[in-house]
Amino acid sequence: MPLAKEATNAGLRVVGLDVDQRKVNALASGRSHIDDLGDADVEAMLASGFIATSDEEVLARSAAIVVCVPTPLDEDHRPDLSAVEGAVKAISRQLTPGTLVVLESTTYPGTTDDVVRPLLENSGLVAGVDFHLAFSPERIDPGNPKFGLRNTPKVVGGYTAACGERAVAFYSRFVEQVVPVSGTREAEMAKLLENTYRHVNIALVNEMAIFCDELGVDLWEAIEAAATKPFGFQKFLPGPGVGGHCIPVDPSYLSYTVRKLGYPFRFVELAQEINERMPSYVVARVQRLLNRHRKAVNGSRVLLLGVTYKPDIADERETPAVPVARALLELGADLAFVDPHVKGWKVGDVTISREEDLATALDAADVTVLLQQHAAFDLGMVEERGALVLDTRGVLVENERVERL
Ligand SMILES: NC(=O)c1ccc[n+]([C@@H]2O[C@H](COP(=O)([O-])OP(=O)(O)OC[C@H]3O[C@@H](n4cnc5c(N)ncnc54)[C@H](O)[C@@H]3O)[C@@H](O)[C@H]2O)c1
Repeated sequence: MPLAKEATNAGLRVVGLDVDQRKVNALASGRSHIDDLGDADVEAMLASGFIATSDEEVLARSAAIVVCVPTPLDEDHRPDLSAVEGAVKAISRQLTPGTLVVLESTTYPGTTDDVVRPLLENSGLVAGVDFHLAFSPERIDPGNPKFGLRNTPKVVGGYTAACGERAVAFYSRFVEQVVPVSGTREAEMAKLLENTYRHVNIALVNEMAIFCDELGVDLWEAIEAAATKPFGFQKFLPGPGVGGHCIPVDPSYLSYTVRKLGYPFRFVELAQEINERMPSYVVARVQRLLNRHRKAVNGSRVLLLGVTYKPDIADERETPAVPVARALLELGADLAFVDPHVKGWKVGDVTISREEDLATALDAADVTVLLQQHAAFDLGMVEERGALVLDTRGVLVENERVERL
């Protein structure tokens, strides 16, 4: 959608094709289904000629086709390319000579060449000869007020040099800086490196958070001190675990590829182990906090503040709030949550009670866990009114009632 918006703004005639008819209907009637676009943006796009459809025949009339479908993991934590394959098969059925096809979905190196290209060539057309093929990773950071599609450099790798040039020319029409690389594999790997780098560095500070607590060191302060170094250090913060559909998922695409070589990608697997342990560590800290005040989790009112995986957005995918809530429920907690971005929240079969008013919710809770720091939260109020507070984001001032992770 951000790409559709920028391309429409640049004067291209853009069609959004989706298999989800509800999304198509919503877009066609001017309603946005994502955080980064408002209804007004969709209205403006429609006014400039944007069309949403579920009719794959539009592919035959398209000069450039950009594939942005999901790439999740299957039940065994292996890459699930079914959406990519479904989309590419549709393109193959409709492919006409001269078309540019770009895959943007995050995936393991080799997907464009080994999976997408043969499916497209089933059309009888040949990549690099009859049509152009490229990979360009999606780099959207939802909720980021500074960097959007237009001003985030776009990495592009073509199947052939001519494919790369065609894709660079396409993106240059609505992205300020396009970064060509020599092939599709390098572009695929660039995206996985970016996300694996975040995953590993978050795991590093998460592991440090656990032992710093035992050592009696304020890690949050140490991180701020380290971050004053103007070179060679980038700040990462601990938290209740990693969420979203990228950071917890994408490194598995890379470890899957490496495992096929016969050995593990140890950094990724270790980072996964540490990050996945954080929700249970948060629960252990809640238990300890209550215990220090002669209370048990069983029967206590536990308030979760913020249940999305990122601040100030509504996206709940892979949020660590779910394993935190599940473990607290198992221990017999009476759970409630406050989140201005989430209207209803279920964990398994259990509907968690939603509190509208922060002050009332804080007053009713035996312990409050700040899981996500939405801008809408009055942090001063949390500090003052929370009977006991565990702050997993390091934004509250500690006292005898308030603990940071
Ligand atoms: N959203 C982000 O912030 C972000 C950032 C970087 C990378 N990515 C990557 O981009 C890709 C897409 O992510 P997303 O969050 O937009 O996914 P999403 O879950 O929002 O899915 C995008 C759309 O694809 C549609 N779709 C599924 N199969 C289809 C098919 N065969 N034909 C047509 N449409 C189909 C879905 O109905 C959905 O509307 C993923 O690989 C993701 O890892 C996303």
